[in-house]
Amino acid sequence: MRHLIFGLFFGLTVGIASAGDGKAVYDANCAACHQPDGAGALGLAPPLAGTLGKRLAVPEGRKYLAGIVISGLAGKMESKGVIYEGIMPSWQQLSDAELASVLNHVLTNFNAAELPAGFKVIEVDELAATRAKKPTARELRGWRAASQ
Ligand code: HEC
Repeated sequence: MRHLIFGLFFGLTVGIASAGDGKAVYDANCAACHQPDGAGALGLAPPLAGTLGKRLAVPEGRKYLAGIVISGLAGKMESKGVIYEGIMPSWQQLSDAELASVLNHVLTNFNAAELPAGFKVIEVDELAATRAKKPTARELRGWRAASQ
């Protein structure tokens, strides 16, 4: 009986987590600044479309993406020759599953053409590990520079 209850509960939570709808999370939390299609907005937020795929070729790129949604980041950021200076809020209030699914939505829908061969989706575990040891702004900038 115990097993049955545990199994049901576990199955249910995993079911909900893996069903995490990245597009819904994106539209509700990210689109206002980064725009519904990820094009970004001058003076507000950099593009997320066509700018992130190549970063996934090195481990720093995965750490950067998981890290920026957990820790947030503020200051100057150059993207496609434009300097943005704004605040990327921390999204710690979202679950690891929601954050993994929103990153995978951004990567597979807005950056599909530049993803490296053998690209593996961002796992919930990677968000959990990042949350356990939140990166500093300095670390995030270092990982961004290392994953151009
Ligand atoms: C209030 C506006 C705002 C919202 C809402 C927002 N962002 Fe951002 N985001 C920014 C800004 C501004 C930057 C650049 C930060 C800097 O200058 O250091 C940024 C940077 C980023 C980057 C890094 C881009 C790069 O080229 O390195 C990613 C990835 C990102 N945001 C993802 C998200 C996701 C996913 C969400 C929703 C969960 C989100 N953002 C919601 C403003 C926002």
